[in-house]
Amino acid sequence: MIELRNVKKYFKKPVRGKGVLGMLKTLFSRKYTLVKAVDGVSFDINDGEAVGYIGANGAGKSTTIKIMSGILTPTEGDIFIDGQRPYVNRERKNVLKSIGVVFGQKTQLWLDLPLTETYDLLKGVYDIPKDEYTKRLGELIELLDMKPFISAPVRTLSLGQRMRADLAAAMLHNPKTLFLDEPTIGLDVLVKRNLISAIKSIRAQYNTTLLLTTHAMSDIEQLCERVIVLDNGKTLFDGTIDGIKHMFGDKRNITVTTNRPITSDSVQTLSDRCDVPPEISQDGRQVKFSVDAGKQHVNEFLKSVLTTLPVEDIKITETDIEQVVRTIYENGIAPPPESESDGTGGEPDGENDRKEIETDGDGQKDGKIDETD
Ligand SMILES: Nc1ncnc2c1ncn2[C@@H]1O[C@H](COP(=O)(O)OP(=O)(O)OP(=O)(O)O)[C@@H](O)[C@H]1O
Ligand SMILES: [Mg+2]
Repeated sequence: MIELRNVKKYFKKPVRGKGVLGMLKTLFSRKYTLVKAVDGVSFDINDGEAVGYIGANGAGKSTTIKIMSGILTPTEGDIFIDGQRPYVNRERKNVLKSIGVVFGQKTQLWLDLPLTETYDLLKGVYDIPKDEYTKRLGELIELLDMKPFISAPVRTLSLGQRMRADLAAAMLHNPKTLFLDEPTIGLDVLVKRNLISAIKSIRAQYNTTLLLTTHAMSDIEQLCERVIVLDNGKTLFDGTIDGIKHMFGDKRNITVTTNRPITSDSVQTLSDRCDVPPEISQDGRQVKFSVDAGKQHVNEFLKSVLTTLPVEDIKITETDIEQVVRTIYENGIAPPPESESDGTGGEPDGENDRKEIETDGDGQKDGKIDETD
C-alpha cells in the first residue's frame, strides 16, 4: 500500500540578474525564487490498483515519483510504501526492493553494456537468487519480445526497444509496485500498443500496483481504473475515469448533416436545450450540438432534431477523457454546483500566486528545500 500525507517538495532557485554584472551579483545575492513543485499532495493507493497520475507540463508528477522512489527528499509530509519511508536511510532499501521505476525521458540502463550484462548487474544489486533470475528474465524477454536485441549495447537500441528494456529492468526483482513516468513518450502507435499490452500482461500475471504518468489519455483509459489530476503541485481530482467525466457533465456531441442548408433560426428551439450554442457550418449543411445527458433525455432531444431539421445523417459521440482533461488543464476544476463529485475540486491558484515566491532564503520551514542552479 502506498500512502502520501500532505507531501510537499519546494526548490530554491537563485534569482538571476541580467548580463555579466547580474550573474556576479547572483553569486552574492540571497534572493531566491521558491518553486512549489509539489504542494500538499495526499493519496492512498491499494495493492493491485492501477492509477493514472496526470497533469500539465510542470504540474509536479515526476517530482512526486522521484520522492516516492527515494531520489528526492520531501520538504514536508510523509510517504509510506508498505509502511517504509523512501527518504529514511534505513528504510530506503526495503522500498527499493518493492518498487520498479521507469523514467521514459531518461534511461536507467548502462549505455555501453549489452542488456544481458546490465541485467546481470541488477541481479547483484537486488540480490536475486539465480534460479529466480533466470526464470523471470526468460519470462520478461518473452513478454516484451526482447530476443532480437538482448545482446546489443543499450546505446544501439531504438527508443521502443530501449523502453521495453527499461521496463524489464524495472521488473526484474519482482517489485510489488511499478512507477512508470511517461513510458510511451515518443513511441510510434504500433510500438506503443505493444508496450501497453505488455504492461497489461505484467499486471495480470503479477498483480502489480501501477502508478502511471502520461500525456496520452488513451494510455490511461487502457491501463487505469482511477485517475489523479495534479495541477500546480496540488491534487485537483482523485476518482474514477467515469467520475471525472460525470463531474464535467456527461456530454453527448451530436453532429447532424442536413439535406439542405439551415439557418440559426431553425435550430433556435433546440439550442435552448444546450449549454453552449450549436455550431453551424459555413455551408449550413452541418450543425453540432452538445447535450448534457445528466440534464435531459438524449433520445427526446434526438426526436426533436428529427422533427425540426431535414436530417440526412446523425453522428453521436460521448465526451472523451481527452476533452475533459484539456478543459481541466485550461480552466482548472470548477464543478457545476449541482453535480456530485468524488474529487477534490476548487479553483487552482494562479501560476504565479502558487509556484514561484521570492524569498530571502531565510526562515524556511524545516525539511529539505533543494537548491538548484
Ligand atoms: N531540480 C529542480 N530544481 C528546480 N525546479 C525544479 C526541479 N525539478 C523540478 N522543478 C520544477 O518543479 C515543477 C514540477 O516539475 P516536474 O518535473 O515534477 O513536472 P511534471 O509534472 O513531471 O512535468 P512534465 O509533464 O513536463 O514532465 C516545475 O516547475 C519544474 O521546473
Ligand atoms: Mg515529468
